Amino acid sequence: MPTTIVAFSGSTREGSLNKRLLRLATEAARAAGATVTEIDLREFPMPFYDGDLQDREGIPKHAQRFKELLIAADAMLIASPEYNRSISGVLKNAIDWASRSAPGEAGMAAFNGKVAGLLSASPGLIGGYCGLFHLRSLLGSIGTLVLPEQVTIAKADEAFDDAGRLKDPKSQASVEKLVRRVVGVAAALKNA
Ligand SMILES: Cc1cc2nc3c(=O)[nH]c(=O)nc-3n(C[C@H](O)[C@H](O)[C@H](O)COP(=O)(O)O)c2cc1C
Repeated sequence: MPTTIVAFSGSTREGSLNKRLLRLATEAARAAGATVTEIDLREFPMPFYDGDLQDREGIPKHAQRFKELLIAADAMLIASPEYNRSISGVLKNAIDWASRSAPGEAGMAAFNGKVAGLLSASPGLIGGYCGLFHLRSLLGSIGTLVLPEQVTIAKADEAFDDAGRLKDPKSQASVEKLVRRVVGVAAALKNA
């Protein structure tokens, strides 16, 4: 069975640099033999997490769809924008909803035992490094094996060519290396 991956970005905007980076990671994962579902969180609109809302109505429809995709996957690829040295509210909110268990469901089923590969693109000089530091800590604390390797693309507004490829071959190679590792580690864990 091929490794299954859900790929998503913490940015929903049309021209997102992180969506561009995610697309390259998705292509690399497919080339490495994985089955990838690339999603846009804009198509999973969910309210701010609210415990009263959850008690009253359960987990909202799109949060549940997102959670089920994660539960069904072996691994995730996340391209996260850096907002105020942390992650976007969109991404945090989606993770918060997906971390909630329905009655009878195992706790953290969407995250526990999953493998994650992290990427970030920023016009800034350190490429979203601080945001990934927070994301790594967050995912690790809910049972996800976050690979130590990660990709940060600095000056990302100048990093892509017109075809959406990274101009710097070393950066492109780092995406492919990270993704191959995600696919390999997830396959090894599945067979362990
Ligand atoms: C609310 C907000 C906070 C931001 N904070 C940071 C930051 O701390 N570090 C950084 O490198 N860029 C920061 N930026 C700039 C983003 O990196 C830039 O807008 C980037 O293009 C967002 O990712 P996207 O292109 O995938 O949407 C911030 C942008 C916004 C909207």
